Amino acid sequence: MLRDLILKNRSYRRFYQSERIAETQLRDWVDLARNSASARNAQPLKYFLSTGEPLNASIFEFLGWAGYLTDWPGPEEGERPSAYIVMLRDTSIPGNYLCDDGIATQSILLGATEAGFGGCIIHAVNRSKLHELLKLPENLEIVQVLALGKPKETVVLDVIKNGEIKYWRDENQVHHVPKRTLDEIIVKIPD
Ligand SMILES: Cc1cc2nc3c(=O)[nH]c(=O)nc-3n(C[C@H](O)[C@H](O)[C@H](O)COP(=O)(O)O)c2cc1C
Repeated sequence: MLRDLILKNRSYRRFYQSERIAETQLRDWVDLARNSASARNAQPLKYFLSTGEPLNASIFEFLGWAGYLTDWPGPEEGERPSAYIVMLRDTSIPGNYLCDDGIATQSILLGATEAGFGGCIIHAVNRSKLHELLKLPENLEIVQVLALGKPKETVVLDVIKNGEIKYWRDENQVHHVPKRTLDEIIVKIPD
């Protein structure tokens, strides 16, 4: 069911790094994005795929992980993503891409989740360094990076208490993500 898939589709940041993801699999997930909605149907998003070392290790250097977990520098060797999809915007295709990036990202992550994998959207990217590493042409701007792998962590959804939106980890290293209640986000005309 779609609801189960969406609930399972959490941001995972620790993986079984040795579980590889084939490039054909990444292509299947990008194909879900390709078939998703696009403002003016301009389709300005492009994708760079990385499925192995040493490129994965080089990409990892330019990513920022879990800003709220201030004493955690990111996944250690052995728990790092086994693949990356670098989402790019082709600036030679005119117009504003509005929310194409979010729709494409969700399509890719739902595909990965359905296949038993998981990932994390990484917006904290050293774009200039990554652009240089991947030898990208000028017209391809980095939008964000999707880090992917076989999840090695448990993520649970909680209800927000006292307005606290920060995710946190408990003593068993379970990752907790507070979500606002449905009643809080559905707006009604006051009595
Ligand atoms: C646009 C966007 C940018 C994000 N950037 C980062 C990031 O740079 N690093 C990171 O560790 N997580 C990043 N995340 C993941 C969020 O922290 C995560 O979605 C949030 O904590 C809620 O957890 P959930 O995805 O499991 O619901 C990003 C998420 C979104 C939607």
